[in-house]
Amino acid sequence: MTNIIELNHLSVSFASKKSNNKKNGESNIIHAVEDATLHIEKGDIYGVIGYSGAGKSTLVRTINLLQKPTEGQIIINGEIVFDTNHPVHLSGAKLRAFRQKIGMIFQHFNLLAEKTVFNNVSFALQHTQIKDGKTGKLRYLSATEKKTKVENLLGLVELSELAHKYPSQLSGGQKQRVAIARALANDPEILISDEGTSALDPKTTNQILDLLKDLHDRLGLTIVLITHEMQVVKEIANKVAVMQNGRIIEQNSLIDIFAGPEEELTKQFIETTSSVNRFIAGLPRTKLLQNLAEDEELIHLDYASSELEDPVISDITKIFDVTTNIYYGNVELLQQQPFGSLVFTLKGSSEQRAAAKQYFNERNLKFIVLGSVKEGGEI
Ligand SMILES: Nc1ncnc2c1ncn2[C@@H]1O[C@H](COP(=O)(O)OP(=O)(O)OP(=O)(O)O)[C@@H](O)[C@H]1O
Ligand SMILES: [Mg+2]
Repeated sequence: MTNIIELNHLSVSFASKKSNNKKNGESNIIHAVEDATLHIEKGDIYGVIGYSGAGKSTLVRTINLLQKPTEGQIIINGEIVFDTNHPVHLSGAKLRAFRQKIGMIFQHFNLLAEKTVFNNVSFALQHTQIKDGKTGKLRYLSATEKKTKVENLLGLVELSELAHKYPSQLSGGQKQRVAIARALANDPEILISDEGTSALDPKTTNQILDLLKDLHDRLGLTIVLITHEMQVVKEIANKVAVMQNGRIIEQNSLIDIFAGPEEELTKQFIETTSSVNRFIAGLPRTKLLQNLAEDEELIHLDYASSELEDPVISDITKIFDVTTNIYYGNVELLQQQPFGSLVFTLKGSSEQRAAAKQYFNERNLKFIVLGSVKEGGEI
């Protein structure tokens, strides 16, 4: 696969207001992004996650040069568009044409309040030039061409009926659909969403994410999705980068991040999307552990990627003749692969239980024994 976006060793720093304070001569530099390298392949839905102030927006705004890096190199579609060692100058019409190929949506939609839905979208076409079929020269779109284009875009985001409404007459989800139509007006290959669903309720968030996924599939879009919610990443991304204090601290495929997060922050983000830890934290309030029999243990099993092709629980009961009782279970599909957690009791002789655990180990299934009765009756 080819990289459509390459950010190589990017740093972005800002001189904070304090540095202008000549009185104490304090120089205060904010390192918003530090030595970030991110390679995005064509067709990726790449999630960039981090808490407020981590540097997500600053990093992603360098992709369309809304933000100039202090250091580093940017390659878009194989073309070097920024390089601190070999200055490249994109300006005027060239810069505008470059930016048109990268659509962007924001948390607060950024629609023009005095324009209708239709005109908000057609506004994005005002500088658009195409090659004239007859003369072969560049020209602006005719009014009819614009109209057709806007109608198609509104059809794509299912807003045709609202073309003559004003933003104030729309719901948040509808406003974001207008913004998406506008972002797609110039047929971009890349769509950047900077917290595009953060102002929406969970149901509307899912509708917008479904729309983005659908547009990705139908138009072959590459999507860069900034968010502070792991659930959003989990819904549609295939890859994810975690940012903290201006740095990318971890990046991987979605499956590998969920299967084996390395950094503490990544683990925290993953925990926000799963309730198994809440269940385990609540165990002391139940009698589950105290009531374990001597031939029982309580197991927390996580399965990731394709490990669940064998029905492990029914397997161990059949093969090793143990009995199980499931107290917590959650399975979901990440990138079409089953992924989830189980908490269950495993009952049988110590040899049978050891064999069952050996079976888990052989399949690389991660498990923890949450409780068992040791000899002498202690938990
Ligand atoms: N134009 C600017 N001038 C000075 N400092 C800036 C500027 N833009 C961003 N910063 C600082 O850079 C750091 C990273 O900001 P950025 O907006 O990239 O974070 P973020 O991860 O997008 O946060 P959020 O989730 O709140 O949007 C912050 O400390 C911010 O205050
Ligand atoms: Mg931001």
